[in-house]
Amino acid sequence: MLENMKNMLEKAKKEKYAVPHLNINNLEWAKYILEECQELNSPVILGVSEGAAKYMGGYNVISGMVNGLLKDLNITIPVALHLDHGSSFETCKKAIDAGFSSVMIDGSKLNLEDNIKVTKEVIAYAESKNVSVEAEIGCIGGSEDGVSNEILHAKTEDCVKIVNETNLCTLAPALGSVHGIYKGEPNLNFERMKEISEKTNLPLVLHGGTGIPDDKIKMAISCGISKINVNTELQLAWHGALKKFVLNNDAYDPRKVIGSGESAIKEAIKAKVILFGSNNKA
Ligand code: 13P
Repeated sequence: MLENMKNMLEKAKKEKYAVPHLNINNLEWAKYILEECQELNSPVILGVSEGAAKYMGGYNVISGMVNGLLKDLNITIPVALHLDHGSSFETCKKAIDAGFSSVMIDGSKLNLEDNIKVTKEVIAYAESKNVSVEAEIGCIGGSEDGVSNEILHAKTEDCVKIVNETNLCTLAPALGSVHGIYKGEPNLNFERMKEISEKTNLPLVLHGGTGIPDDKIKMAISCGISKINVNTELQLAWHGALKKFVLNNDAYDPRKVIGSGESAIKEAIKAKVILFGSNNKA
């Protein structure tokens, strides 16, 4: 059964590891992630962007598909189904009504007051359905569903304010990470991360997990990060394997073509789970 992120993130914060948030794009992604995390005995958060939800047909399709996989694959690890970067109350409500166990309301493009206001509205609705909520302060750089953002670092006082005024499960303070591939070495503000963690006492989220060197991931976990989002890295792993397969094969069965990336995706998942320290934490 799906669960919300509360217990998994509180345990991760206490025991100093991070739960992987892995974005799904289709049935195969969801299946591979669930199988590999079950194998490694790791809790997992399946992230779904608005674009991915549209691609897959809608929130009900995804909820039905993931619940079916949990049952048919006998998945026993903690799994959350999470809306990634929900842009409005309406979108969050749609995901919740379809059975998502967790949502992110991304009010980071709003001013602080409006961000807090929409976050409160989402929490009021989510709480009645036992759904956890993540919010964002500052602006994560790179491209989210094709829309490019500038990096804008979160201010500690804004993070403290949103946490004091709402009942958030977790918060994503933008501190230099970007979605997609980094140009050069990622420059994360660890000092501010630690300060926000200490002053809010909330498990924090690091977006843009692709391409962050291992030592910086470990440093982020030690500074209070309890959930790390990864999307592009699994896509790159799959794409590399697929390219090789297509260039060397005439197979046209989609199960063979799409499935040619299975072991590459699973290897990438395993590397992240072990790096984040969430193996055997289910
Ligand atoms: P990457 O695609 O850079 O791994 O970022 C994923 C993410 O942060 C999803 O919210």
